[in-house]
Amino acid sequence: MTARAASPTRTRQVLPWRLDCHVAAGDDATAADELRRALTAPRPTIPPRWFYDDAGCDLFVRITDLDEYYQTRAEQQILDAHMDSIVAAHSPTELVEIGSGAARKTRAILDAMERAGTLTRFIPFDVSPGVIAASAADIAAAYPGTRVHGIAGDFVRHLPRIPRRPADGRRLLAFLGGTIGNLEPTPRRSMMRRLARLMRPGDALLLGTDLAHDPEVLVRAYDDADGVTAEFNRNIVRHVNHAFAGDADPSDFAHVARWNARASRVEMHLRARRDLQWSIAGLGIVVPIEAGSTIRTEISCKFMRAGVEALYADAGLVPASWHEDADGRYAVSVATRS
Ligand code: SAH
Ligand code: TRP
Repeated sequence: MTARAASPTRTRQVLPWRLDCHVAAGDDATAADELRRALTAPRPTIPPRWFYDDAGCDLFVRITDLDEYYQTRAEQQILDAHMDSIVAAHSPTELVEIGSGAARKTRAILDAMERAGTLTRFIPFDVSPGVIAASAADIAAAYPGTRVHGIAGDFVRHLPRIPRRPADGRRLLAFLGGTIGNLEPTPRRSMMRRLARLMRPGDALLLGTDLAHDPEVLVRAYDDADGVTAEFNRNIVRHVNHAFAGDADPSDFAHVARWNARASRVEMHLRARRDLQWSIAGLGIVVPIEAGSTIRTEISCKFMRAGVEALYADAGLVPASWHEDADGRYAVSVATRS
């Protein structure tokens, strides 16, 4: 499905942005199969992409504004301090951002490219069509002369739908927000290899990773005092209900965030407050859930520099630079494809 911005005056003028949509809630057999398998496994989980309907994307923006969620401020601080030198080192002509969400921090990257006079195209890619449509329109308006090509897709399946870069250009590929840490080690390595496939020699990858440090600070970032993260976690139930005609009451679940030291990750769960039978007609299942048992909804792995560099090596990428925030809690690194 492709949409072009319609001109309000109905002339043939075409605004400089387009949207491709490869995901439609409830209308994607692969996504439904994956969700059914996850919910009926011995230890039930829900794939985190189901957090991000329009309400979930709004809640996530509220998370990024929380005092406890230092990650967004840390990443912003790093981008503000280092994007000019990163752009000078790699001279990108286009930015492709995976899991771009509201694309707020993106502006620090686009601004640096604009200052360098190299910016021609921006390709935001996210599983949420709503957030892609909104951010594509905002960015197209804020950066006149830049082509914006938004793509709504699943980064596990649809990255090959991203257009090739022009032979005379250079691509900067961004994967920010610590989202790489939301993948288990094996899918994480696959993700890095898929990212590397979107790059040609000379292109660069900009990767945001949360670092391992004080578990108390880490857990608080996923269990804030105002309960915004709890609301975000419960919204996954609402989204699944809506997409597949489910009947669970989100308020029957408590939000749980805990540190798993062995795996160096924070885990998010939903813990049933009572015995439940979650009927999900669109998936043809009824999920029995005992009081006190949990459904895991997210992992957020915390890295050390050596681990990030091993990921690069596995994908055939070469580390180019490493930048930490002032507190050493978060890193943005750059790798190139030789
Ligand atoms: N880059 C933003 C948002 C990070 S939250 C920031 O740093 O603030 C993670 C983003 O990845 C969300 O916008 C979510 O919709 C998107 N996402 C999660 N799973 C995805 C998937 N499987 N495919 C594509 N996008 C996904
Ligand atoms: N990429 C984000 C992270 O791991 C996603 C995230 C932030 C998240 N807060 C959350 C996911 C709370 C689930 C629940 O930091």
